[in-house]
Amino acid sequence: MSQQFDVIVIGAGPGGYIAAIRAAQLGFKVACIDEWKNAKGGPAPGGTCTNVGCIPSKALLQSSEHYEQAAHHFADHGINVEGLSIDVPKMIGRKDTVVKQNNDGILYLFKKNKVSFFHGRGSFVKAGEGGYEVAVGGEKPETLVGKHVVVATGSSARGLPGAAFDEKLILSNEGALALTEAPKKLGVIGSGVIGLEMGSVWRRLGAEVTVLEAMPTFLAAVDEQVAKEAQKVFIKQGIKLQLGVKIGEIKTTKKGKATGVSVAYTDASGAAQTLEVDKLIVSIGRVPNTNGLNAEAVGLKLDERGAILVDDDCKTNLPNVWAVGDVVRGPMLAHKAEEEGVAVAERIAGQHGHVDFNTIPWVIYTSPEIAWVGKTEQALKAEGRPYKAGSFPFIANGRARALGDTTGFVKFLADEKTDEILGVHIIGPFASELISEAVVAMSFKASAEDIARICHAHPSLSEATKEAALAVDKRTLNF
Ligand code: FAD
Ligand code: NAI
Repeated sequence: MSQQFDVIVIGAGPGGYIAAIRAAQLGFKVACIDEWKNAKGGPAPGGTCTNVGCIPSKALLQSSEHYEQAAHHFADHGINVEGLSIDVPKMIGRKDTVVKQNNDGILYLFKKNKVSFFHGRGSFVKAGEGGYEVAVGGEKPETLVGKHVVVATGSSARGLPGAAFDEKLILSNEGALALTEAPKKLGVIGSGVIGLEMGSVWRRLGAEVTVLEAMPTFLAAVDEQVAKEAQKVFIKQGIKLQLGVKIGEIKTTKKGKATGVSVAYTDASGAAQTLEVDKLIVSIGRVPNTNGLNAEAVGLKLDERGAILVDDDCKTNLPNVWAVGDVVRGPMLAHKAEEEGVAVAERIAGQHGHVDFNTIPWVIYTSPEIAWVGKTEQALKAEGRPYKAGSFPFIANGRARALGDTTGFVKFLADEKTDEILGVHIIGPFASELISEAVVAMSFKASAEDIARICHAHPSLSEATKEAALAVDKRTLNF
């Protein structure tokens, strides 16, 4: 006998597990199916984000930043460290513990909210009278029937043709998060978010990092002024960056016991080059996961990229089948997936769940951090929208000076006539935290003047946000 549910969620990443919890809160009988296995073969809910994405990368970024501070910056504070060394396996072990805490936390939340969790692959069987039949593979195969199905199967790293990930020499995010020693020479293909975050981790731990990027412009989606500042800082930190390259053949090499990777490429001037490295990270974007879902069995439509086709409300072409997160259009971000998960659960309950795509923040967790929300200056120019800009450097902020972290600035873009905030761009300390104020302001359609008139604690980095808002009207007080 198959078990009957109101809602079946396939995938327990941030999109899926949050959709399942919200649906259960709304009184539905909910099942969530996820196939991720931990090292012992047991369940590891949380998806890419928890297992090989947001959480482990931030754990390693933190550990490596502590090392960088101790090695290069403690002395500025009068703290002298002798005999400093790194224990990479311990660092990786700590990261694994943090991941497990998050996996266990999700299993606890499922219990607390009475979500039935099934460990195995979920695939469509057919659409029937009582809803959709979904098979769960794995050790205990079962068949479930759900009135509604939410697909939240996420994404996987995109590889380059002829250079399959072996996770030993040619690494996706998974291998890049599991190295047990810093390679002497690390190559990174793609100067996007993963390339910069993982490149930063291994550079701080001693690797000589070379990044090869196809686009002629660095961080093309980021505000130009921020991207320029970031490029300058990363190069100063020692990252070798080559833009406008065309990647050719990638070969793994072996000389005696020494293994490596050789990357043939054409540089921006058209000259043929070869990069020889010990390890290579390929971080050139991600592809939606729909393999194994048996979408054809029910006629679920995909777009030309293989993503599940949805409308603004995350409805697919099939009645009562929804899809959220990385497997659909839009930015591949955990918080975007979560917002869609909540909105879908609420729509199933007949409520008006809503995601404001204009106010989804982005953060790159390098040092300095980069964060933004809304439009970039180049986008406003391209649209021909009249705007005012104001920025404030952290060098003029007392708290940043006390922290010893004065790189970067906060920049506001506001409508020329109405003063409504159209975009906020930050490069500097704790940009990931500072951006929240801008997200709140933009969600409430605030003006730059609104932020400029709000009392901000002194001394705090958030005063740079207030000052940048004042700068829109050319009346900064401290610069
Ligand atoms: P996923 O998290 O990918 O989860 C999908 C789940 O579904 C997985 O557990 C998968 O095993 C399971 N699954 C797939 N098919 C099936 C099936 N047929 N049956 C059962 N289970 C199935 N985003 C941020 O916002 N902030 C960050 O700092 C950040 N850092 C990142 C760092 C890295 C290295 C990477 C790779 C990504 C990072 N991301 C970050 C992106 C973020 O991880 C994704 O946007 C997010 O995980 C998407 O959530 P999701 O629920 O759509 O899918
Ligand atoms: P990305 O889309 O951020 O960057 C990929 C880069 O590779 C781009 O600059 C692109 O021009 C370049 N590229 C593409 N093909 C290439 C080729 N053949 N040769 C050389 N360069 C090439 O993708 P990335 O870094 O793989 O990350 C995937 C996604 O994961 C991100 O877009 C983001 O959505 C998510 N993520 C989010 C994080 C965060 O929020 N802090 C951290 C890490 C990942």
